[in-house]
Amino acid sequence: MNNQSESPDSYYLHSANNITTRRQLTESVDADVCVIGGGYTGLLTALNLAEKNYKVVLLEARKVGWGASGRNGGQVGSGHNKKINDLENDYGKDLATRLWDLAEDAKPLSPVQQDQMRLGADYYLNRCAICHGADGKGITSLAPTLVESVWVTGPSEILARIVLQGLQGPIEVQGETWNAMMPGHASVPDFDDETAAGLLTYLHRAWGHAGRAIDPKFIARTRVEISDHRGLWTVKEFEDLEINTHYRKYVGRYGGGAFSLNFEFDGRDLIVQSIYFNGPMVEQKEDHFFFEPREFSVEFVWDENNEISAVRVPLQGGVELPRVRD
Ligand code: HEC
Repeated sequence: MNNQSESPDSYYLHSANNITTRRQLTESVDADVCVIGGGYTGLLTALNLAEKNYKVVLLEARKVGWGASGRNGGQVGSGHNKKINDLENDYGKDLATRLWDLAEDAKPLSPVQQDQMRLGADYYLNRCAICHGADGKGITSLAPTLVESVWVTGPSEILARIVLQGLQGPIEVQGETWNAMMPGHASVPDFDDETAAGLLTYLHRAWGHAGRAIDPKFIARTRVEISDHRGLWTVKEFEDLEINTHYRKYVGRYGGGAFSLNFEFDGRDLIVQSIYFNGPMVEQKEDHFFFEPREFSVEFVWDENNEISAVRVPLQGGVELPRVRD
């Protein structure tokens, strides 16, 4: 290692733009918050606080990005160091779920997704809150709760159909049976694909939910799929519906030679197949799946062309199996 003031030699050092040498702190300064350490965590903390108008000072003993942050490929991950199953065993399901949601909520949406979610949130307040309440908790004898409702946190194919074409009971929501009617919004003029996608994203992330962002293309596709459907949807119809269609993008073969995994979609579940094991996987969060019988999770990896290029498996601490292209 070279002397303390120089960064370790790395690709990142050689490809960095504008390396600014900051001066040493010699005097005393006043700040609301002092962040110690200029790695990813420290820099992001300081930036977020400064954007919220706090006066922030960041101290770094060597150079910004001197430590691990300066020499590894950065990834945004919302998982915890400990596996979620271990957290659940150690702290119970409630606390483990709260830890999960906390990390999931911290994962930012892209600026486009945020704009769409704002459109969706406005739509909710103008058009849905009147029956379901601004807090989503429902209104007695008018409309059921949306908070932690499986119809909201569950498959988006169902949620999109309810919102677009309406719903006819009976339906069970959080243990209560409702037998009423909800009109659809498909023909409301300002309910375009962006607003509808933003509304679903909002429902997925409001009130402590930690679900995925929904793409306007998904709404456009759904409108086509349901164009022949007449009347309000019923729960009975949902039982036959193909759900989790977003799993299709993972289908394919990964790896090769000694170890390969195949993923299939059966209209409901993502099925993993290999010479050692077979069966449905549970989606934990976007691109992360868990295989219960063997207690392992996999993560699908995207490349710069926005295509899924590999799956990361926990073999020997983490191996990427590249997708096999035919
Ligand atoms: C006129 C009142 C009314 C409006 C406006 C309304 N809903 Fe509903 N909603 C209902 C009723 C009543 C039910 C239960 C219907 C049943 O019994 O089948 C329901 C059920 C639901 C459900 C499934 C059950 C649950 O609680 O999870 C969802 C999801 C939902 N509505 C979302 C929305 C969204 C999103 C909007 C705005 C786009 C909206 N609703 C607007 C009255 C309304």
